[in-house]
Amino acid sequence: MKVQIHPKRQLFKRDKMIYGHFLEHFHRQTYGGVYDPGNPLSDEDGLRRDVIEAMRGIEVPVLRWPGGCFVSSYHWKDAVGRERKPLFDKAWRVEEPNTFGTDEYVAMCRKIGCEPYICTNAGTGTAEEMSDWAEYCNLENEGQYAKWRIENGHREPYKVKYWSIGNENYGDWEIGAKDAQEWGLLVRESAKMLLHVDPTIELSAAALADVDWNTNILKNAGRWLKWISIHKYWDRNHEVNTEADYRQCMAFTGELDEGIRQVRGILCAMGLEKKVRIAFDEWNLRGWYHPGCRYGYGVTKEDYLYPRDDNDDNTKYTMADTVFTACFLNTCNRNGDIVGMANYAPVVNARGCIYTHKDGIVLRGTYYVFQMYVKLMGDTIVDLWDEDPEIITFPHLKGGERQVPVLDVLATLRQDGAVVVSAMNKDPERERGLQLLVPGVSKYRIHTLNGESTESYNDIGVNGIVPKTGQWLACHGTANLQLEPHSVNIIEFL
Ligand code: AHR
Repeated sequence: MKVQIHPKRQLFKRDKMIYGHFLEHFHRQTYGGVYDPGNPLSDEDGLRRDVIEAMRGIEVPVLRWPGGCFVSSYHWKDAVGRERKPLFDKAWRVEEPNTFGTDEYVAMCRKIGCEPYICTNAGTGTAEEMSDWAEYCNLENEGQYAKWRIENGHREPYKVKYWSIGNENYGDWEIGAKDAQEWGLLVRESAKMLLHVDPTIELSAAALADVDWNTNILKNAGRWLKWISIHKYWDRNHEVNTEADYRQCMAFTGELDEGIRQVRGILCAMGLEKKVRIAFDEWNLRGWYHPGCRYGYGVTKEDYLYPRDDNDDNTKYTMADTVFTACFLNTCNRNGDIVGMANYAPVVNARGCIYTHKDGIVLRGTYYVFQMYVKLMGDTIVDLWDEDPEIITFPHLKGGERQVPVLDVLATLRQDGAVVVSAMNKDPERERGLQLLVPGVSKYRIHTLNGESTESYNDIGVNGIVPKTGQWLACHGTANLQLEPHSVNIIEFL
């Protein structure tokens, strides 16, 4: 395929928050993931040093917390101060110790160097409870909640800028789910109270690509919102743990921008596209496996609890996850005029990019995708023209076939003047040729992330998916590349 890049035709700057992550109180994400007091690998705050270091390594810009479904029956006041009672978490049907709460979360964000992003309880919670939380975090010293934070040893306000009203409150699986009208009114009242506490914060509200749902939110509360949240797990294996195979995952790449396109259309129709941005604040190729919680309740722990350990099987996170993740980051970049934040779900354990075990961590292939994007790609999206896009056919999980472009190519301009291109070859078997025409450049090098086969993975003592960097090569405005099958590539031009 031949691609002409136009570095002078700069389209827009994307927000680095599209490389954000998510952490829920679920299985071994928070407890036993990043927070593990008493573990010799943890620091004085109980945080796993190796996990924090890995999160720094991918420059996590923003971390959404504490849920997810968990938050829809969570009361933040239970997890602040000296009196912390363990309570039953009705979303995930386990005991929540409440030892990791707001203070621990903000301290952790400071260590990582990321923005906190708090998702509030709009299931069983109220507008008042949400705004009390904002008082605790952001007021200097006025009122009981700011004073409580100070009593707890935190004199300076936390200045949490990003807040989301609710999580998936449209879904019948969510505790305290609402209909579209109720939701519009609750978002309006919650937004007002939160902004009365701190008018400098930026608010989002749980949404989906649905006209009725979004119209109700935006008509009622559009003037107070800066964001609208959407989520997507393409391989929806929450109840049945049969992962889509490599080819089926590549068929999903034909659906990467569906939700964005639909929500963009709604925002444009309402004249809000310059005011409200999309926070794609939960996404992953695969849904987390947790049978017996949403539909058909499991009775024994064998039914609903222990199966969650199957998410820990590292052999399942292959080049399918790796290539798909890079293609989604390309989609966010391409839509960076309206997608301002995205949060990979989750950052650690379950389907995350970091896996913890008692002696250390495993960095799955998806970890290296984030590392390559944050370290190498530019933040200005530039125009390109592919003259002869090649198409490939993959079987779709739901039946039938899906035709998708075999290569996914994105061009950016970096602050140091480098033109940086990402290019994925989805073909499971064949190398594919890519000719890049970039005016004015004289050398290039290619970074490739790949494994020996589509089924390669990383695990304890197994490094099946690793990045490699080629030598700088001279060129006169043209690079002729052969992209390995099932590979993620980043090409730097100077
Ligand atoms: O499966 C994990 C859950 O997926 C998250 O808690 C929720 O937000 C989403 O539905």
